[in-house]
This record gives sequence, structure tokens and C-alpha cells, in this order.
Amino acid sequence: MDFREKYGQWAIVLGATEGIGKAAAFEFARRGMDVILVGRRKEALEALAKEIHVETGKEIKVLPQDLSEYDAAEKLISATKDLDMGAVNYVACLHAMGEYNKINYETYEQMYRVNIRTFSRLLHYFIGKFKERNRGAFITIGSLSGWTSLPFCAEYAAQKSYMMLVTEGVAYECKNTNVDVLLLTAGSTITPTWLKNKPADPKAVAAAMYPEDVVKDGFDQLGKTYSYLAGEINRENMQKNRSLDRNEVIEKLGKMFEHMA
Ligand SMILES: NC(=O)c1ccc[n+]([C@@H]2O[C@H](COP(=O)([O-])OP(=O)(O)OC[C@H]3O[C@@H](n4cnc5c(N)ncnc54)[C@H](OP(=O)(O)O)[C@@H]3O)[C@@H](O)[C@H]2O)c1
Repeated sequence: MDFREKYGQWAIVLGATEGIGKAAAFEFARRGMDVILVGRRKEALEALAKEIHVETGKEIKVLPQDLSEYDAAEKLISATKDLDMGAVNYVACLHAMGEYNKINYETYEQMYRVNIRTFSRLLHYFIGKFKERNRGAFITIGSLSGWTSLPFCAEYAAQKSYMMLVTEGVAYECKNTNVDVLLLTAGSTITPTWLKNKPADPKAVAAAMYPEDVVKDGFDQLGKTYSYLAGEINRENMQKNRSLDRNEVIEKLGKMFEHMA
């Protein structure tokens, strides 16, 4: 599907420098859109912009921005307000691993600003804008961690869960419009961040996907569903876990992540 024709000229990827965000930026360009890359590392973003432009011929802009800055969302809104914005993909999501009280509270505040504050302001702004002209797409990247609580990574799982629930609710609200909202949940995905914190669970490692596959599969679901879990194996594992009670799930995950304490 040509996204440019359906949604508009520009896509913005929040957290585009590497991993799933980089794959998303390529995919938007392959589907006809010009793309704005947002991340903190200007030089890496500029190199990526060149790479995408050479492969796809699309116009690629770089907007270096730390999403944890208090006014990050307002700066991005102001930088894009005169463009024909068609799609948004919120990818960045900070995490911290360890016993809950042993993590510095400032880390949680920084996570909160990227994962909730900036995210929610941009969701609110872009959904309003897209609804006004009755076209556009908003994709939030979710995680299996947000489907349950996650001992030793509890704040991340809770913040992720917030992003996921609000996206699904808004997706339903947009169902009778030409605004497509999708929660695209990824399981283990081979990105630089994942390689740094590779899970101990061999099943999670065996199910790991390439970011390009997560994104391609996920983008195909836009407009067809509110919430999509990428990967056949992830969906099968999820199905098996459905019979477990919440306490059993917490117990299982706690044991798996105990080494992070
Ligand atoms: N990898 C997995 O196994 C997995 C599994 C499930 C869900 N997910 C979800 O998928 C998404 C992407 O994960 P990922 O593994 O690709 O990597 P990630 O570590 O979540 O994201 C890295 C990207 O976000 C940008 N970023 C990080 N902090 C930022 C900040 N303060 N301001 C602006 N940009 C920032 C980074 O670029 P800069 O360094 O240039 O800022 C980079 O492009 C996340 O939402 C994650 O929760 C990942």
C-alpha cells in the first residue's frame, strides 16, 4: 500500500537512529513517504538519512531531539506544523533493570518523560490534527513486557503498559475515520539494545525477530486491526500463557529476571 497517497507526505519516527526505529524509517520511505528522523545522535541520524535517501530517493529530514527534555514535544510540534504530516511512529522507550528501589529515581523521571509525557503530548496533538483532516496514521511500538508486570524491570513494564493501553483505546475511537491507529507489539527483536540485555530465557532468544520483519509485518496491519503482536512464535507462546493465572505469570517472569537484581 502506498502510505503517502493514503496518509500524507511526511512520516516522523521518534527514536529512529537504530533498531526498530531505523527499520520503520526505511519502511515508511519504501512505502512512498518522506521521513523525519528523530533521535539524540545527530551524526548517526544524518548518515541514516543519506542511506535511506540513496535507497529510496525520498526526502529525509533529521531533527535531533532528546525526547526526555521537558519541552521536546512542543519543539517537535513547532518544527512539523507547516508540513503535510501523514504518519507518526513512537518507537523510543527507555528502560531500567534492577530491584525497583535500587534504581535512582531520576532515571524513572527521565523514563517517564520519554515513555509517557512526550509520547502522550504527541499522541494528543497528532490524533487531533489527523482527525481534523480525516487522514493519518499513528503507530506505537509495544512490548510483551507491557502485557504483564515484570519484576526487576517493573517501571518499564508499567510505563509500556500505559503506552499500549492508551493507543488501543484511541485506535477504537478512530475506527470510523480514515485515521489508522495501531499498537504494534514486538517480542524479542534483534536490535543493539536487545543485544546489550539479551534475555536469559532460551525461548525468548529462539523467538527473536529482525526489526525489518517486525515493522514490515506490523505496517501491513495498519487500518485492519487495533492491536497486533508481530511473529508467529510470539503469538503461539502468548496463546500458551493464556491459561496461567496472573500470580503464576509474575512468578515465572520473576524467576527469569532474578539475575538482574
Ligand atoms: N528490542 C526488543 O527486543 C524489543 C522487544 C519488545 C519491544 N521493544 C520496543 O521497541 C522499541 C524500540 O526498541 P529498540 O530495541 O529498537 O531500541 P531502543 O533502545 O528502545 O530505542 C533506541 C532508539 O531510540 C532512540 N532514543 C533513545 N532514547 C532517546 C531519547 N531520550 N530521545 C530521543 N531518542 C531516543 C535511540 O536513538 P539515539 O540514541 O540517537 O537517541 C534509538 O534510535 C521500544 O519501544 C521497545 O520498548 C523492543
